[in-house]
Formats: sequence, structure tokens, C-alpha cells
Amino acid sequence: MSRTPVDDVCVAIRSDADVVAARSLGRSLAEQHGFGTTDVTMIATAISELARNILKYAHEGEIVVETVERGSMSGVSVVARDDGPGIPDVGLALQDGFSTANSLGLGLPGTRRLMDEFEIVSAPGSGTVITAIKWRR
Ligand SMILES: Nc1ncnc2c1ncn2[C@@H]1O[C@H](COP(=O)(O)OP(=O)(O)OP(=O)(O)O)[C@@H](O)[C@H]1O
Ligand SMILES: [Mg+2]
Repeated sequence: MSRTPVDDVCVAIRSDADVVAARSLGRSLAEQHGFGTTDVTMIATAISELARNILKYAHEGEIVVETVERGSMSGVSVVARDDGPGIPDVGLALQDGFSTANSLGLGLPGTRRLMDEFEIVSAPGSGTVITAIKWRR
């Protein structure tokens, strides 16, 4: 996904408090970048779902939130990165209701619906990198 970063925040994720901090910093960045309330909430929700997954499945990782531009478009990208176990079947993980933790299994498919672009790069043993972008209307 080609894009030019303009401004960014990076948060190490190791605790529930880090998840809250990432969500809050991402919210501020999106607000400063001119997103409306609904979009800001969608971006903040995406950040907390991806950060919660880092804690739950990889135990630690990082969230980078950047303002990005592509051509005349301007937006915010959320990158969630970890060196955890990886996702063996990405297609399955994106299905509503699939969970290896007996949870709702809505975090990843929900996040994909909240954002405009969504990409997962993951393999067992190689960690997971998830990139999600929302463009400003
Ligand atoms: N960072 C990650 N590393 C390894 N596996 C992951 C990661 N993120 C998600 N997964 C896998 O993908 C599945 C689906 O994730 P998703 O967030 O949609 O659901 P969940 O976390 O199980 O439940 P919910 O988010 O609704 O509480 C997880 O159960 C887990 O097996
Ligand atoms: Mg989840």
C-alpha cells in the first residue's frame, strides 16, 4: 500500500493501559487531521481491536498511527505489528465469529468494515503486520 507519512505516533503495546493510550493518541491524531466524530470513533475502535489482539495473541507489539497522503487523498493509517505466533489462515481469521480464544471473533472482520483499506501479512512463526487506512471524505 503506497502512501506518504505526514505525522505519526508509535505506541508499544504490553498492557491494557497501552491499549487505552494507543486508542487515545490515535483519536487525537485523527481529530487534528480533520476527521469527523464518526470517523474518529471508527479509527479509535480499529486501533483498540488491533491492540487488544496484540496483547491477547502475541503479548507484545506496537501500534503506529500515521497521517498519510496518496495523490489528492488524505487519511490516517493504523499499522499493528507483532512478532507473535502469526495467523495460520488469514481468510478464516477474517470470518465473522471465528476465534481461537472463544471470544466473539468480530475484531478483525469488524475492523476491516470500519476502515477503507485493510491488509494482513502474517504466517505462523513470522508474526503479524496489519495495515488499515481510512481516507478523509
Ligand atoms: N496479532 C495476532 N496474532 C496471532 N493471531 C491473531 C492475531 N490477531 C488475531 N489473531 C487470530 O485471529 C482470530 C480472530 O481475531 P478477531 O480479533 O477477529 O477475534 P477474537 O480476538 O478471537 O475475538 P474478539 O476480537 O471479537 O474479542 C483470533 O481468535 C486469533 O486466532
Ligand atoms: Mg480480537
